[in-house]
Amino acid sequence: MQEDFFKYQAQITPHPLAMRISHAEGSYIYDTNNKAHLDFVAGVSACSLGHKHPKVVKAIKGQLDKYLHVMVYGEYIQEPAVDLAKFIAKHLPKPLETTYLTNSGTEAIEGALKLARRVTGRSEIISAHLAYHGNTMGSLSVMGFEERKTTFRPLIPDVRFITFNNEDELSHITTKTAAVILETIQGGAGFIEPTNNYLQKVRKQCDKVGALLILDEIQPGFGRTGKLFGFEHYDCIPDILVTGKGLGGGMPIGAFTASKAMMDLLQDNPKLGHITTFGGHPVIAAAALATVKEITESDLMSQTLEKEQLIRKHLVHPLISEIRGKGLMLAAITTSADITNQIILKAKDKGLILFWLLFEPKAIRITPPLTISNDEIIKGCLIITQVLDKIHSEINIY
Ligand SMILES: Cc1ncc(COP(=O)(O)O)c(C=O)c1O
Repeated sequence: MQEDFFKYQAQITPHPLAMRISHAEGSYIYDTNNKAHLDFVAGVSACSLGHKHPKVVKAIKGQLDKYLHVMVYGEYIQEPAVDLAKFIAKHLPKPLETTYLTNSGTEAIEGALKLARRVTGRSEIISAHLAYHGNTMGSLSVMGFEERKTTFRPLIPDVRFITFNNEDELSHITTKTAAVILETIQGGAGFIEPTNNYLQKVRKQCDKVGALLILDEIQPGFGRTGKLFGFEHYDCIPDILVTGKGLGGGMPIGAFTASKAMMDLLQDNPKLGHITTFGGHPVIAAAALATVKEITESDLMSQTLEKEQLIRKHLVHPLISEIRGKGLMLAAITTSADITNQIILKAKDKGLILFWLLFEPKAIRITPPLTISNDEIIKGCLIITQVLDKIHSEINIY
């Protein structure tokens, strides 16, 4: 199987973790040797309810018995997609009320960028240095990390970059700007929160020049930061909200939400302004609805902030210089990239799953399922500090 994995399945790094999966349940993934791995990553913030949550599985099975794919996006009335879009609207502030469901986060970003151009009739998009919005051509064009873009140029034109949290650069947002796209909390950059009312200031400048604000909540959205949406922490409502990952409860999804008036523009000039075959798929939508209901109807979100404090309390070590982020979207920053690499690999041997962040080599990703228990958090943190102790003692010897 290992040989076939490397031969037949396209690889995107020369050194994947290559753990062979048997099954997964709750906060644990089991390999084919039946070793249990405590999951501090949750499929990169996607499995918000852990693995195989019974309510998500029930919703999927219920829909499987009714129908699978029946028609391309938007033509037929399919209850799971309608109910999901309505549920999302119910939990969003006005004017965010109409949702387009996609198959992935990056595809939702593409839709949002197109919508911004369609609404404003302008072409310029402003993004942030170190931003990550996905890997299709539009999303890649607004990625703020040149090293990963150069090979694929030319990308879409008319994209400019500002520095996240730098107010002096807000004047770059002008009457030429169709939209500013920002992650509410910068993920790949190292879980950087907006400071000093930055998002509100961006919002104000957008309003001044008639540009739209797109917030990418694909990672913080749906409870991960302790509120349903990250923007609630910063008192800033976007014109277009993009979500994904945790919305799906382990199934592939993306969504962009805007006012009905804006979204209606996708109906003409051109008609069929954004097309997808599988977006809003009934099985995925049913899983997503079960997921968001569980998140909003339980006390998972308030517990998320308590769990953040528990992690902060138990992850104190001389080799950890800082813990960034909010809720269960945390990054432990170690004193070197080499130490981070060692921890991630050694923790894996000890049955704890950790991962990297894209653009911050010193960061250890800590984004467990929201359903993780306090005991599991303490257990995982102990593995990290034990591995760190060992690395620390080796550094002191040499
Ligand atoms: C902030 C952000 N935007 C967009 C994406 C792209 O989502 P997807 O991988 O589902 O295309 C990601 C995925 O990591 C993300 O974290």
